[in-house]
Amino acid sequence: MGEVKRRFMFLLMALFVFLFVFLSAMLFQKGAEGNAGYAGVTICKGCHEGHYESYASSIHAKKAIPGNPANREACESCHGPGASHVEKGGGKGTGIFTFNRKANAEEKSSRCLSCHEESQHLAFWNMSRHKSAGVSCDNCHSIHAGKDKNLKDPEPVLCYGCHRAVNFQANKQSHHPINEGKVRCSDCHDPHGAFGEKMVKADSVNELCYKCHAEKRGPFMFQHPPVDENCLICHTVHGSNHTRLLNKKTPQLCQSCHELRGHPGTPYTKFDSFGETPSNKLVGRSCLNCHSNIHGSNGPSTHGLNFVR
Ligand code: HEC
Ligand code: HEC
Ligand code: HEC
Ligand code: HEC
Ligand code: HEC
Ligand code: HEC
Ligand code: HEC
Ligand code: HEC
Ligand code: HEC
Ligand code: HEC
Repeated sequence: MGEVKRRFMFLLMALFVFLFVFLSAMLFQKGAEGNAGYAGVTICKGCHEGHYESYASSIHAKKAIPGNPANREACESCHGPGASHVEKGGGKGTGIFTFNRKANAEEKSSRCLSCHEESQHLAFWNMSRHKSAGVSCDNCHSIHAGKDKNLKDPEPVLCYGCHRAVNFQANKQSHHPINEGKVRCSDCHDPHGAFGEKMVKADSVNELCYKCHAEKRGPFMFQHPPVDENCLICHTVHGSNHTRLLNKKTPQLCQSCHELRGHPGTPYTKFDSFGETPSNKLVGRSCLNCHSNIHGSNGPSTHGLNFVR
């Protein structure tokens, strides 16, 4: 081996030794910091009486539930090890994790998910629109507020806080009784994400509607094709200015698919036809005066076929 090559090898070895010593020193320092560790709930209680009380009365403090913070590091299961916070005499921004607005959303949620990931409710969290929009658990839940399901506010107030448009819709003349408390947002949506589109708690819109409006499912002897296809072809879901949550009022709704003219002549006269002159037959419930079983019919022969009975 040439002299030059040997020198080069020596330098390389020296470099490795230096790196090894340097890195292990760094690692050791990190380890020392981690060892600072947990302080324990009684110490926290001393300075945070209020937060202690709200925790102590919450589900998270129930010893009988395995895997609860009470059976782990209590406060520090969520806030992380707090010994260095205590050493420094407490205070803002001193060695303790806080769920304030500045904290990263995913980091905040991951602290809850360390226990809740396995739960059935959160199976679709990773593909939820809330997660991808930067909403975190603590935007809806408050551990220290002492309310049902740890919610900051009850529904629908909680949801309206961010969904003003839905609030507006639910105040329209025809609406699902959300404000009346008969239907909750979470009856139809899973705020933690769901397999259905728009985080709807069913495989499709129609399957969702059938859960509460089973009589619309059929099968009918005479089906009206758009009904099976999607209820939202004719209805909106949160609210509408037309009766019965309809998208448009009749007859325009029906005429968007069925021709204006060409309605069978009998029993109509020229003046009663649905041509350019408005017909007295369209007063009141319009097409529905006669076609009353619009979702499908088991009526006999052409009456059924035409949803007249
Ligand atoms: C010696 C008193 C003391 C002890 C013990 C103590 N804290 Fe604090 N802590 C404080 C003070 C003071 C503040 C600042 C409060 C404020 O400004 O509202 C604070 C702030 C906090 C914050 C908010 C931090 C921030 O950056 O806004 C959290 C979370 C917290 N403490 C949790 C804990 C936990 C968990 C424990 C137990 C491991 C604990 N504290 C023990 C005094 C203490
Ligand atoms: C957009 C609002 C929102 C977000 C974000 C949210 N939740 Fe919820 N969570 C709710 C509502 C509303 C309920 C009550 C649902 C019900 O009563 O059926 C609930 C219920 C729960 C429940 C109780 C389930 C039960 O019925 O027993 C757990 C556990 C839970 N959430 C954990 C989490 C965790 C963990 C996160 C973050 C990964 C999170 N939530 C994010 C709104 C939210
Ligand atoms: C299950 C998780 C969890 C546990 C357990 C928990 N906290 Fe909290 N803590 C939170 C969340 C989330 C917030 C944000 C405010 C809220 O949701 O109410 C918070 C807020 C706080 C704050 C206010 C911080 C700020 O930014 O102003 C303090 C102080 C605090 N907690 C102390 C405690 C103490 C002391 C305990 C134990 C007695 C405790 N926490 C137990 C999750 C938890
Ligand atoms: C150390 C584990 C642990 C951590 C961390 C934790 N939880 Fe829990 N949580 C539980 C257990 C256990 C239950 C009771 C059984 C259940 O509902 O799954 C529970 C219950 C709940 C409930 C249901 C309350 C009710 O009244 O039914 C909500 C909501 C919840 N946790 C939200 C959160 C949020 C938000 C966080 C983060 C700030 C969090 N949890 C952190 C273990 C934990
Ligand atoms: C009766 C069931 C039902 C109820 C109750 C309900 N939703 Fe919906 N929501 C739906 C359906 C179905 C869609 C999908 C609409 C579509 O595909 O066009 C939807 C869509 C949405 C969307 C997506 C944007 C949009 O308008 O298309 C948001 C946001 C939403 N809902 C929020 C809420 C909130 C907040 C509440 C409670 C105040 C609520 N929903 C109550 C069924 C419901
Ligand atoms: C902290 C704010 C916040 C709260 C509280 C909140 N949401 Fe949302 N939500 C959002 C954001 C941001 C989006 C994504 C942008 C959008 O579609 O408006 C969203 C989207 C949605 C969507 C549309 C999903 C999609 O696939 O397009 C539904 C449905 C929804 N939220 C339901 C709810 C329900 C139900 C509640 C109450 C339990 C709720 N949200 C509470 C912020 C919030
Ligand atoms: C969680 C149960 C539930 C689900 C799911 C549900 N609804 Fe409803 N719906 C109701 C209730 C409750 C009423 C009010 C009934 C009453 O007042 O007699 C209602 C009323 C209606 C009305 C009549 C409104 C009026 O002004 O008279 C229509 C139309 C309607 N729903 C369509 C739908 C459609 C379309 C879907 C699917 C997207 C759906 N519903 C899903 C519970 C539900
Ligand atoms: C072709 C348009 C159309 C489609 C599609 C449609 N509907 Fe309707 N729906 C109507 C009309 C029109 C009314 C008003 C009927 C009346 O006033 O007699 C109505 C009324 C309703 C009502 C309230 C009155 C009643 O009959 O109970 C409910 C609930 C309802 N629809 C649910 C649904 C559901 C669920 C679906 C999907 C399976 C659906 N609709 C699909 C046109 C439609
Ligand atoms: C989205 C389009 C659409 C809307 C909106 C619609 N229909 Fe239909 N309708 C159809 C289709 C498609 C058929 C099946 C036609 C066929 O089989 O030739 C049908 C069939 C019918 C039939 C049975 C006659 C036949 O030719 O089989 C009647 C009656 C009818 N519709 C009335 C109405 C009324 C009344 C409304 C308004 C409340 C309405 N439709 C809204 C698409 C629609
Ligand atoms: C006065 C009662 C009445 C009114 C109002 C009415 N229809 Fe009809 N419609 C009927 C009857 C009856 C039949 C069946 C005629 C037959 O069997 O020859 C029918 C048949 C139909 C058919 C099937 C036509 C075909 O070629 O087989 C459609 C589509 C239809 N109506 C749509 C509508 C629409 C859309 C409106 C509102 C603009 C409307 N109808 C208003 C009584 C009415």
